[in-house]
Amino acid sequence: MLELKNVSVTYRAGKRPAVSNISLTVAEGERLGIVGESGSGKSTLTSAILHALPQGSRVDGEITFQGREISSLGESQFRALRSVEIARIPQDPLASLSPVLRVGDQVRHVIQAHRSVSKRDCIPLIEEALAEVGIPEPHIKRRAFPHELSGGMRQRVLIAMSLVNEPTLLIADEPRTALDVTVQAQILDLIQRELDTRGMSMVLITHDIGVVTEVCDRIIVMRHGQIVEDGSTEELLRNPSHPYTKQLFAAARMQGATTESTGQVKTP
Ligand SMILES: Nc1ncnc2c1ncn2[C@@H]1O[C@H](COP(=O)(O)OP(=O)(O)OP(=O)(O)O)[C@@H](O)[C@H]1O
Ligand SMILES: [Mg+2]
Repeated sequence: MLELKNVSVTYRAGKRPAVSNISLTVAEGERLGIVGESGSGKSTLTSAILHALPQGSRVDGEITFQGREISSLGESQFRALRSVEIARIPQDPLASLSPVLRVGDQVRHVIQAHRSVSKRDCIPLIEEALAEVGIPEPHIKRRAFPHELSGGMRQRVLIAMSLVNEPTLLIADEPRTALDVTVQAQILDLIQRELDTRGMSMVLITHDIGVVTEVCDRIIVMRHGQIVEDGSTEELLRNPSHPYTKQLFAAARMQGATTESTGQVKTP
């Protein structure tokens, strides 16, 4: 479904690439996890796929989606794919929602970017999309501004926006804002449920190797802009080959051990 061949991204000419020589594939229905420390290039990679890099950045290599080269598509051609075929749940809910627009209107804009539906006819679609991601009283909440919602609710609005056009590939970048652990678990459950019912593929980006081992079929470990490990979740759990992957597992086990006693987090 998605294939990257030797993809490198440079933000500014003459600078070191933020990611270099990345090759990976995502099969239909597959859930791929990407883990790695902050700054390892996870979001950069997804921005390259989604044509969401700032101006002046450069992408080398080849990105194909359903057999079609997409990295060289013009903006108007790519727009036809965005959110209908490939959608992203962005990392930063506050920065990703406009503060001056009601959340319902923001969902509507995503719908209307791809379908000619009148403002009035969008209302039931918006309410359905919000209800589906567990937002109570969607007929009231659709009129709320982002700052009137909790962090968890905003994250749900973004998920509703990413799913409303029924994409075939979902790219979920872990929320940067500290959602509390129960909300995080709820959001993850929600995403998994949606994947199951819709049969979508997913790329899940997180720091939490415990989460990926639970959710994903395959795991890629990134470090300093490169892939240091790529294998099935089972393989990696059984036999992590790169020292950094071993470190990640060891750290996750330690965190599991300490938080288990406080009853806050599940052990990976
Ligand atoms: N807009 C930008 N302009 C210039 N450099 C950037 C930009 N965005 C990211 N970078 C750089 O690219 C590298 C990779 O950053 P990226 O955001 O992809 O990391 P990440 O793995 O997503 O980290 P995190 O886990 O903190 O989200 C970092 O060195 C970062 O400073
Ligand atoms: Mg990131």
